Amino acid sequence: MAFFYSDGILHVGDARASVTVDSIIGAIDRPAYVYDLDDIALRFHAMNNAFVGTRHTIHYAMKANSNAAILRHLCALGAGVDTVSGGEIARARAAGVPADRIIFSGVAKTHQEIQRALEARIKQINVESPQELQRIADIARSLGVVADVAFRLNPNVNPKTHPYITTGFRDNKFGMDESFMPELRGILARESKWLRLRGFTMHIGSLLFDLDVIREAIEKTIAVHETFKAQGHALDRLDIGGGLGIAYDTADTAREFEMITQYGRMAIDATRGLDVELLTEPGRVFVARAGVLVGRVQYIKVTAAKTFAILDTGMHHLVRPALYGSKHRILPLHQDAGEKITYDIVGPICESSDFLAKDVSLSQLKQGDLVAIADAGAYGFTMASQYNSHELPAEIAVSAGRVVVCD
Ligand code: LLP
Repeated sequence: MAFFYSDGILHVGDARASVTVDSIIGAIDRPAYVYDLDDIALRFHAMNNAFVGTRHTIHYAMKANSNAAILRHLCALGAGVDTVSGGEIARARAAGVPADRIIFSGVAKTHQEIQRALEARIKQINVESPQELQRIADIARSLGVVADVAFRLNPNVNPKTHPYITTGFRDNKFGMDESFMPELRGILARESKWLRLRGFTMHIGSLLFDLDVIREAIEKTIAVHETFKAQGHALDRLDIGGGLGIAYDTADTAREFEMITQYGRMAIDATRGLDVELLTEPGRVFVARAGVLVGRVQYIKVTAAKTFAILDTGMHHLVRPALYGSKHRILPLHQDAGEKITYDIVGPICESSDFLAKDVSLSQLKQGDLVAIADAGAYGFTMASQYNSHELPAEIAVSAGRVVVCD
C-alpha cells in the first residue's frame, strides 16, 4: 500500500520504510504529485510473475504517467514502453529506454513521427489503417530500412467500461476489422522489401475488470493471426494490449493483484501452442495507486446548499472526475477523530466542472490544510493542463521513504 495513515497522518511507503507526505511536500508552495516508485515495482513484479514460463515482455503504456523517474525505474527492472507519439518516444529515449524496447501505437502517426521512429530502429509499429501501412512502407523505402509492424485488430467486443475509454468496439476509430485484411495483404505483398509483419495487436479499452471479454478479444485476434501464418507470414509476436482496472472506490488493492495473476493465467491459456513472444501494455494498474495529488485548502466556503473546500488544484491538474465522472478518494494529510463534515472538494478554475470530489465526508478542514487526492498516479499529470494560465503541479518521486527526484 503506497499511501496509508499512521496515527492520523498520511504516509508514503510501506511498513519497512515510510515518511509523512507532509515532510515530502516540505517547502513546495504549489500543488504536487507524489509517486511511490516501490509500489510500481511491486506491480511490475506481480505482472512478470503472472506470466512466468512464457516469453513475455511488458511494454508499460507511458501515456498513464511519463515521469522520467518512473520510466527509469521501470526500465531498470526490464520493462519496455508502449508509446503513442513522437513526444513519448523522445521522453522514453531521454530516460534511457533502449529503442528495441519501444513500441509505437496511436491512430494518427504523422510522417515525421514515423520517420523518427524508423530512424531510431524501434521494436515495432502498431498499425491502425491501410493508409498508415502504406506511409510506413514509403518512409522505410526512402530510408532503406525494414519496418517491423503489427496490425491492430478491432475485435468488436464490448469491454463494459466508460464509453470514452472503449477502444475495441466496432464504433471506435481504433484498429481494423477483418474487412481490412485483403488490402493489408496487398500492401504487404507489394512492399515486402520494406515491411516485416511480426504479428497482431489488440487493446479493447481501459479500466477493465472482465477477463472473459479480454479473452474473447485475444481469441478473435489469434484467429486472424493464424490465417496470416497459414499464408506464409512468419509471425512471432502477439500484443494483447493493456487495460486492467483498479477500484477507485476502495483502498483495498488485493483485488487488482489477484486480477493481475488471473490475467496472466488466462493469457497463457488462451495463447497456448502459439509460439510467440507475448507483449502486454499495462498502464493504469502499475501507476494509479502509486500517486496522489496534493493541494492546499485556500478557502472554506459555506453556502445554503454546500460546504466547499476550495483548493489550489483542480480539474486542470486532475481532469478524471470532470471528464469521466470518476470518484477519487480524498485523503487529508492530517485526520482527527472529530466531527465529520460533508464537503465538495473543488479547484480554482472558472467553471463548475472543476471538482475533484463531491459530497465526501471528512474530518474538519481549515484554510491552509493539505489534502491528497488518491489514486491519481495514472492519467493525472499526463492529462494536466495550464488552463486559466495556472502552473503545472510539481512531481516528486519517492523510494524507501526518501525523495528520489523532485521536479
Ligand atoms: N495500450 C493502448 C494502445 C492504449 O490505448 C492504452 C490506453 C493502454 C495500452 C493502457 O491502458 P491501461 O492499462 O492504462 O488501461 N485517460 C483515461 C484512460 C485512457 C486510456 C487510453 N489508452 C483515464 O483516465 O481513465
